[in-house]
Amino acid sequence: MCNIKPIDELKVSPIEIVNLSAKINNNLILDNISFEIPDKSITAILGPNGAGKSVLLKTINGLVPISKGKITFNSQETSEAIRKKQAMVFQTPTLLRRSVLHNMEFINSINKETNILDAKFLLKRVGLDNFYNHPARLLSGGEKQRLSLARALLLKPKLLLLDEPTTNLDPYSLKLIEDLILEESIKGTTIILTTHDMAQAKRLASNIIFINKGKVLEQTEGKVFFRKPATNEARKYLAGEILL
Ligand SMILES: Nc1ncnc2c1ncn2[C@@H]1O[C@H](COP(=O)(O)OP(=O)(O)OP(=O)(O)O)[C@@H](O)[C@H]1O
Ligand SMILES: [Mg+2]
Repeated sequence: MCNIKPIDELKVSPIEIVNLSAKINNNLILDNISFEIPDKSITAILGPNGAGKSVLLKTINGLVPISKGKITFNSQETSEAIRKKQAMVFQTPTLLRRSVLHNMEFINSINKETNILDAKFLLKRVGLDNFYNHPARLLSGGEKQRLSLARALLLKPKLLLLDEPTTNLDPYSLKLIEDLILEESIKGTTIILTTHDMAQAKRLASNIIFINKGKVLEQTEGKVFFRKPATNEARKYLAGEILL
C-alpha cells in the first residue's frame, strides 16, 4: 500500500529530535541533542551567542547535514515534500537585487500554490504596502527583515523557522510582527524562533529550549523557565551574567 500523503494533508509536526549531532568543517556544533517540538506550538530557542541556535534551525531545515541521530516530522524523516512545507527566515536576510514586489513575485514564480494577491496582502500585513517598487537592497535592516518574513509566509508553511526575526525592529514593527507570529500560530502553523529578547520569548513561546555550547540544557514550559530555570547556566543567562 502506498502511504505517501497528498501534500496539503501532510503534517510536519510534532517534531522529534533524537541524539542529534551536526558538524561544520569537522567541528562539532550540535552535540547529541534531543527534544520535542509539539504540534502547532511556538517554541523559543534561547542561549548565548555561538550556542548553536542558528545552526540548529538550519539543521531542522535541512541546510546543515546531520552527522549523528535523527529528526522526524510527524514520525517521518525529511523529504522534498516535508521541506516544501517549511519556510525559514534567516538572521541575515538575503534578498534579490530587484524591487520589493519582484522579491515576492519570484517566490510566486517558483511555487504554484502562491499568487500575487497573497503577495500584496502579505506586504500590507508587514507594513510594506508603500514599498512595492522600492529596490529591496535599499530597504533598512528592519524593512528587509519584514520583507523576508512576508516572503516566507507566501509559501504558506506549516513549519515556520524564524532566526531572530525582530532584532532590528522598532517598537511598532516589533508589535506588528509579534501579532503576525501569534496569528500564524492560531492558524495552526508550528513556529520555532530564536531570540535574545527575553520579554518576547515570554510573550510568545509556550515551549523553551535552552542551549549552550551545542548542548540542550533545558526544555521547559515558558512560564516555568522564566520563573525558575532548572540549570545554573540558564539562571546566569537570564540574569545577564557571562557563561563560561
Ligand atoms: N558556516 C560556518 N562555518 C564555521 N563555523 C560555523 C558556521 N556557522 C556557524 N559556525 C559556528 O557554530 C557555532 C554556533 O553558531 P550559531 O550561528 O548557530 O550560533 P547562535 O547560537 O545562532 O549565535 P547568535 O546568538 O550569535 O546568533 C559558532 O561557534 C559558529 O562560529
Ligand atoms: Mg544565530
